[in-house]
Amino acid sequence: MIRQMDDRDLERILEIENQSFGKSAWTREDFLHERDVTPYGRVVVYEDTDGQVAGYLAYWDFEDRAEITNLAVAEEKRCLGIASALLEWMIGLSADGDWQNITLEVRVGNQNAIRLYKRFGFEIWALKKNYYGTEDGYLMGKEDLG
Ligand SMILES: CC(C)(COP(=O)(O)OP(=O)(O)OC[C@H]1O[C@@H](n2cnc3c(N)ncnc32)[C@H](O)[C@@H]1OP(=O)(O)O)[C@@H](O)C(=O)NCCC(=O)NCCS
Repeated sequence: MIRQMDDRDLERILEIENQSFGKSAWTREDFLHERDVTPYGRVVVYEDTDGQVAGYLAYWDFEDRAEITNLAVAEEKRCLGIASALLEWMIGLSADGDWQNITLEVRVGNQNAIRLYKRFGFEIWALKKNYYGTEDGYLMGKEDLG
């Protein structure tokens, strides 16, 4: 089940966030800020059949486009299609035709994520030099949202 992030999810989210991103992990405040302060910020979680949060997706919902700001799945729940389910859900949101594109940034070395995004029709639009400090990033985008 995919649903809005609840305060009670934060502990589990931070566990997944820290194991996924280490030093560049978002904090509790970052998640709350995205949900409660950023006007176009959204955070949804994937709740597994056992009732536990297995992954989450944060994005910016602008009027004419969207941007994925965070996506992670618990280590022990990877390769089960959870990130795919979250991406499919988000792409489904564009069915009303308001978004012209969905973009995201990813580390050039994050081959797992890049492969996943490409499978969903995202393409590399630009190389962002030193976007992650010493590591370059790719701007990826998907326009065909039909
Ligand atoms: C990138 C990330 C979100 C992918 O999450 P995930 O839930 O494992 O992704 P999925 O299961 O949907 O897809 C991953 C792979 O599993 C495969 N898979 C999906 N369901 C499967 C199943 N039932 N059986 C076997 N393989 C399966 C997919 O085909 C996919 O293969 P690919 O590597 O060729 O793309 C996860 O690895 C992660 O959290 N990484 C750390 C954080 C991160 O890098 N986030 C992205 C930042 S931009």
